[in-house]
Amino acid sequence: MSNNGKRFKNINQLLAFQEELASSRDPKRPTVVICKGTSCLYANKSDKIVEAVRSEIERRGLTSEVSVRVPGCLGFCEQGPILIVRPQGIFYPRVKAKDVPRIVEESLIGGKVIEDLLYIDPATGSKLAYEGQIPFYQKQMPLVFGSNKEIDPKQIDDYIAIGGYSALAKVLQRMEPEQVIEVIKASGLRGRGGGGFPTGKKWETCRKAKGERKFVICNADEGDPGAYMDRSVLEGNPHSVLEGMIIGAFAIGSEEGFIYVRQEYPLAVEHFRVALEQAEERGLLGKNILGSGLNFGVKIARGGGAFVCGESTALMASLEGKPGEPRAKHIHTVEKGLWDLPSNLNNVETWANVPLIINKGADWYASIGTEKSKGTKIFSLVGKVNNTGLVEVPMGITLREIVYDIGGGIKEGKRFKAVQTGGPSGGCVPESLIDLPVDYERLTEAGSMMGSGGMIVMDEENCMVDIAKYFTGFLKDESCGKCTTCREGLVQMYSILGEITEGRGREEDLATLEELCWLVSEGSLCQLGGSAPNPVLSTLRYFRGEYEAHVKEKRCPAGVCKALVCYFIDKEKCTGCTLCLKRCPQGAIEGERKQVHVIIEDKCVKCGICREVCNFGAVMRE
Ligand SMILES: Cc1cc2nc3c(=O)[nH]c(=O)nc-3n(C[C@H](O)[C@H](O)[C@H](O)COP(=O)(O)O)c2cc1C
Repeated sequence: MSNNGKRFKNINQLLAFQEELASSRDPKRPTVVICKGTSCLYANKSDKIVEAVRSEIERRGLTSEVSVRVPGCLGFCEQGPILIVRPQGIFYPRVKAKDVPRIVEESLIGGKVIEDLLYIDPATGSKLAYEGQIPFYQKQMPLVFGSNKEIDPKQIDDYIAIGGYSALAKVLQRMEPEQVIEVIKASGLRGRGGGGFPTGKKWETCRKAKGERKFVICNADEGDPGAYMDRSVLEGNPHSVLEGMIIGAFAIGSEEGFIYVRQEYPLAVEHFRVALEQAEERGLLGKNILGSGLNFGVKIARGGGAFVCGESTALMASLEGKPGEPRAKHIHTVEKGLWDLPSNLNNVETWANVPLIINKGADWYASIGTEKSKGTKIFSLVGKVNNTGLVEVPMGITLREIVYDIGGGIKEGKRFKAVQTGGPSGGCVPESLIDLPVDYERLTEAGSMMGSGGMIVMDEENCMVDIAKYFTGFLKDESCGKCTTCREGLVQMYSILGEITEGRGREEDLATLEELCWLVSEGSLCQLGGSAPNPVLSTLRYFRGEYEAHVKEKRCPAGVCKALVCYFIDKEKCTGCTLCLKRCPQGAIEGERKQVHVIIEDKCVKCGICREVCNFGAVMRE
């Protein structure tokens, strides 16, 4: 079913085509779904699996009877590439090209489950056969991300078939711009790029701002280490972001849009470029959209990958072709932004929420979440957790539910220590706050922040001083250098943290660190400096004992800081198996077979391999 790429002259043509498409979709049709987002494509060669499925289906002459769908990311990246056989919903994780003939033969044609290819739940050890049974997905509420598996992101008809562009049709047919703004305000949607600013209020200010031209911009810079939800939304469902932007342009009164995407996201850029071309071809973008008189176009701007360029004023400077440096914001960018004209910047996920709200209503959206944080949030759940990937959850869910019910708990049964939320300038939330409901306010109260949605889980083997040093180092490198406090303050903080982790810390360093934190956050122009002290402040708040152990006792309790760690072999436990001796890269272990081994301290580089490989727990660390 296709209208051969014809332009919709009016709204009714789009809606009629949509109805036709939707009714021609047979939910019982045998279909193979294989994820092909960046992670699975490049790390796991999922394109080879797609190729194998297509050629197996062709070889068996089944091309007209079964469908192959290649969506973007399906979220459970740790188990990728994922292959789902529909209509049953049989779920196969970590699929290999060699498994494909069996899957086609036994599951696609035979409708049976192949036991040895099934997902094994790490919590119970039991095999799970169907999508709906996988615990990783059970507590999620995938409003934004859930459509990924229903569409091929490069096929606009797939998006239209699941109701895509019907929110735009509704807006153009039945609403005034002010009404759209009222709906977004009433929904309680807040910016998903970090600050949590109310989206409707921002649109309203931009609409009211004076200016001959106004801009609508999508922030797809996503520079937080470990975060990739914006990339995956753009790769998996680019039209949802575009539809949100067109609705925003209508509400604000803008004819020109930009999307600022980092250079390192080639697949996201490619999918968005295709979406723009297809939307333009169909009359959903460009002049006189759907015959409504609305004009709007979007250009893609590629960022060079500087973290600071995600900040609104730096992003706009970069878009203008200037160095990406922030400016003071006593006049907001909604009034004077890009080329000093009113500019409305929203994050990828914020834009993707807009069509949902228009379609289902403000009350529906506002019924999800907590008092002040509505809807869902996509997090990238990474670190020492069993199930890593992208998770979309309702605001207000607890950290425990995310880490244990969705994330499957801590790897290798180790103890949960903290979760770092909010990107590099977020904070570490300790185990004592594991029942904290996740929303903008509660995370800020806990000394962290929502940020754009990074969630890094840490276990007992993470040193919190080392963690603070890592993030401070990242922010020091990414500071644009415009403000002295940020540029110099972060260098000083990093240097003190370095001294502490290398065993030269002094007791007074902790007070100096706190003073520097205050200086950097109060004296910096933008929120890079404003929030940069969070990693240090939150770890000092919750893990002060660990800092003290480093400076007073010259000890790293987690055993991470090499200068403060010493390895030795317990005579009682060593069996003389020689494994540590063989694996030591420095030749720092001596001993005869079946006799107690010893570590030569002068040669040891404290890599910890001996401890990892010892089967008898004989290598001790102090
Ligand atoms: C250093 C820094 C980096 C930022 N990076 C991003 C980013 O990558 N993506 C993003 O959407 N917002 C980022 N922001 C927040 C933006 O400045 C801005 O608040 C956001 O794009 C507005 O959209 P929203 O209201 O939809 O969240 C960053 C802010 C700072 C201070």
